[in-house]
Amino acid sequence: MLETKICGINFKNPIIAASGTFGYGREYAEMYDLSILGGISTKGTTLLPREGNLPPRIAETPNGMLNSVGLQNGGVDKLIETELPFLKHFDTVIIANIAGSTIDEYAEIAEKLDATNVDMLEVNISCPNVKEGGVAFGTNAKIAADVTKAVRLKTTKPVIMKLSPNVTDITEIARACEAAGADCISLINTLLGMRINIATKRPILHNNVGGFSGEAIFPVALRMVFQVANAVKLPIIGMGGVVNGKEAIEMLIAGACAVQIGTAIITDPFAPQRIIKEISDYLTENNLTLKEIIGSVVPN
Ligand SMILES: Cc1cc2nc3c(=O)[nH]c(=O)nc-3n(C[C@H](O)[C@H](O)[C@H](O)COP(=O)(O)O)c2cc1C
Repeated sequence: MLETKICGINFKNPIIAASGTFGYGREYAEMYDLSILGGISTKGTTLLPREGNLPPRIAETPNGMLNSVGLQNGGVDKLIETELPFLKHFDTVIIANIAGSTIDEYAEIAEKLDATNVDMLEVNISCPNVKEGGVAFGTNAKIAADVTKAVRLKTTKPVIMKLSPNVTDITEIARACEAAGADCISLINTLLGMRINIATKRPILHNNVGGFSGEAIFPVALRMVFQVANAVKLPIIGMGGVVNGKEAIEMLIAGACAVQIGTAIITDPFAPQRIIKEISDYLTENNLTLKEIIGSVVPN
């Protein structure tokens, strides 16, 4: 009843663990069988290992959090050698989330992953573009399209472009990615945020600013999913602030084919199975199928 197909890949349910909030699943696998998940998006991988930003890298904020982890990871070769073989023990869709600081870097990572058994690539374009003064790739439609094209050329796997919400018109970026050959759009990545310690007058995060996620951002995320669903023909994976089944159902109604759970997994590792059950109960109680609710919003 909960099955969904995205870019020809079968998901047993529409709930996916979001990148960066689930690592490579190792800690969670000690608590439950990861095969209950529709999919897992791995921690963003760069070409070379990265140590990430200096601490403090996390700040709490009402109904949400700020992070400036800075893409700490072991690099794509380590992902391929040690993490992917572990994840392949589970019957769930594996999505490799990739990040680069130049377009060539994205292309090289995509090429390396093309030869593996990952099911899909998710391209994080919220990263700073070092050749353009550190502005995120995903804030400019042409550059977002250039990243899409570069990755597209190097892989036969379905390419999911993961959009940054820190833009004026999200539909412009989504359309540019679609025209450049993306197979799917996922959104939203974190919003840029900040907190200050009033005793020291110093920003709480060492990096001054960071990514804002969690329950508080849900209305922004839902609005963007709705707008993008109306702007492109591609399948959409929604995320941002989903904590309960109710919000996941809203995202599906707004047009998402699947929903990722991020910050909610950090506070409650069992959030995915609770949300899966809440969706299933809603469908049973209302005598509906998943297919029937996807994109069923009745705009005013
Ligand atoms: C600690 C942390 C690390 C993250 N790392 C990544 C990452 O490596 N790549 C990426 O595309 N998104 C990353 N994200 C963004 C999430 O995948 C997600 O898009 C965002 O947090 C919004 O969803 P949520 O409100 O459910 O957390 C990270 C988020 C958090 C909180």
